[in-house]
Amino acid sequence: MEQKQLIDLLEQMTLDEKVGQLLQLAAEFYSEKAEEKTGPMTDLGLTHEDINNAGTTLGISGAKEAIRVQKAYMENNRLGIPTILMADIIHGFRTIFPIPLGLGSSWDVEAAKKVAEVSAKEAAVSGLHVTFSPMVDLVRDPRWGRVMESTGEDPFLNSRFAEAFVKGYQGDNLKNDFFRVAACVKHFAAYGAAIGGRDYNTVNMSERQLRDSYLPGYKAALDAGAKLVMTSFNTVDGVPATGNKWLFRDVLRKEFGFDGVVISDWGAVIELIPHGVAEDKKQAAELAIKAGVDIEMMTTCYTENLKELIEENVVDEAILDEAVLRILTLKNDLGLFENPHRGADVALEKEVVLSKEHRDIARDIARKSIVLLKNENILPLSKQEKVAIIGPAADSHDVIGVWSWQGKKDEAISLAQGVDQLEAEYVIGKEAFDYFKPSQAAIDEAVALAKEADKVVLALGEEEWMSGEASSRSDIRLPQAQLDLFKAVQAVNDNIIVTLYNGRPLDLQGIDSAKAIVEAWFPGTEGGAALADILYGEYNPSARLSMSFPETVGQVPVYYNYDNTGRPYKPGNEKYVSKYLDVSNFAKYPFGYGLSYSEFTYTDFKLSSDELKSGETITASITVENQSDISGQETVQLYICDQIGEVVRPVKELKGFEKVDLQAHEKKTVQFTITEEFLRYVHSDQSYASDAGTFDLMIGSNSRDVQTKTFKLLK
Ligand code: BGC
Repeated sequence: MEQKQLIDLLEQMTLDEKVGQLLQLAAEFYSEKAEEKTGPMTDLGLTHEDINNAGTTLGISGAKEAIRVQKAYMENNRLGIPTILMADIIHGFRTIFPIPLGLGSSWDVEAAKKVAEVSAKEAAVSGLHVTFSPMVDLVRDPRWGRVMESTGEDPFLNSRFAEAFVKGYQGDNLKNDFFRVAACVKHFAAYGAAIGGRDYNTVNMSERQLRDSYLPGYKAALDAGAKLVMTSFNTVDGVPATGNKWLFRDVLRKEFGFDGVVISDWGAVIELIPHGVAEDKKQAAELAIKAGVDIEMMTTCYTENLKELIEENVVDEAILDEAVLRILTLKNDLGLFENPHRGADVALEKEVVLSKEHRDIARDIARKSIVLLKNENILPLSKQEKVAIIGPAADSHDVIGVWSWQGKKDEAISLAQGVDQLEAEYVIGKEAFDYFKPSQAAIDEAVALAKEADKVVLALGEEEWMSGEASSRSDIRLPQAQLDLFKAVQAVNDNIIVTLYNGRPLDLQGIDSAKAIVEAWFPGTEGGAALADILYGEYNPSARLSMSFPETVGQVPVYYNYDNTGRPYKPGNEKYVSKYLDVSNFAKYPFGYGLSYSEFTYTDFKLSSDELKSGETITASITVENQSDISGQETVQLYICDQIGEVVRPVKELKGFEKVDLQAHEKKTVQFTITEEFLRYVHSDQSYASDAGTFDLMIGSNSRDVQTKTFKLLK
């Protein structure tokens, strides 16, 4: 349709029909069985007409059902306007990939793009049009259960992933490419900064910090063309995001130039009441529509009140029209007026969804996301040695993570199955081992197996429900029963390799004396196979943390790009510096960290000049050598620090990285081009600019182990 036809359509709509477009209802309103549900269900008291007019739906899928719903919907809708089928496809549709925090650890943006492409294809043939992804909230507090949905603690890395996801989901021709879905970037804004890591809690930060650290990820997704933005549950400077006019009208629309659809998070409009900024549903509707929220997800403040608010001249009808036009435009951008069923295809669905090809991609990407945290010459295993695989995750299918709405645990590969596929020697217990309360028989069996084995793979972790939405934890160690198991096993066999499935950086106290620690996150459908590949050296670990692991939860939030203080920490006994009395300031495993079976050295660090003039570039180069007999991949990381800023600057900020494949004993020189843009940041007047002066430029294999040179920016 042409824009003019959309406007004609808008003009034919009654006020009720227009208000209807702004309501999003979940699957249960259209099908016999309830499907995706991520928030509280309330009795919405809707009429048939309301349901027929509701502009978009959440959580319907399966090509047959999608076609049925769309057909019935269009028949019931007076103007035959199609609905949009939206859902949470976060890290895979039916073929599940590693959780986003794992994808972040791959530092492989092409892999993330591939994940999005495959997810889009499976979702699209199953009838979906929009995914509520990517979630690009910057995260610093591992107590927050939703860190699993983020690619981590760094604005630069998150931005690269945000772009990759959007491009992978949407492709270049959304309207005609039916294997794609539209992307919805979320949660605008700063949802990841909930105080104390408690989900839905207050966020409190300066506008400058918001702009400097938190907004870049969303902006990158928008610049890549994301069609929708979702509001966040939290406040931004005291005003809940979902009613925050400044955030949506001034920043998102005017400044960022976003003209797509804004959707509330589940129930976030009505939550303006318990937030204490709206007296009732009517005022909540007024605040949200004035702020620029187009679609209200799963509550009926708009449905019940917008018409009256317009008739009373409290809300201008033009604001409603704008919102409706944006929703119609999205329908048009998806080609739904011409092809209301888009990619939904029962035959293709059978072929595409969970195909062998997709499973192979999932295995490859899972391998790239598994981080080797520690290895005292015990890994890789050989297929001949006698290995006991012990613990709750030894044969567990709890490997796909909670945001796997269509993923099926019984289609996922457990670690034992993965090892089986490699035809390696191993033993595994017969007793089921509970994550929290293992039976005495299971413990006794585990210890007996450990005694007989050359090496023990202790497969530990969180159960899936322990991370994700509404899953904050104050103690981020492993459950006590697993720490007890570690001790009991260590008493009879010290050759322990701990493998971990979990959704957040953990406090590893209690298991950190293992000889090796392998962080597998929730690696997805092929997770156990990928983990086995790592353990047996079928794949040389290449992942690097995108979120720091604390020494202890008491240090949280601990992240690499912290601001300096007036009393910076110094090693030694000085008391009056910024530090703890009982623990270091630093992460146990910092951002960017991860081991390989190869060994890399960095030499010959050079800058082409120690002066950079605006508009010109300088080149930093370094030689990386693989000093081992095994080929591997290194992630070379570039950081900067502005020595003297107008405001306090972080001690380090990632500004570039490159993944380099190196054969045994091969060396390569890696180059980075430095421009003045790298050095810009948000100043106290909110302007984005650089300062003339001296900068540290650091290159290394992680955010802690770097070599430094300085240069001057001349202006
Ligand atoms: C979550 C969103 C999600 C939405 C729809 C909410 O509870 O916060 O991330 O997209 O539900 O399922």
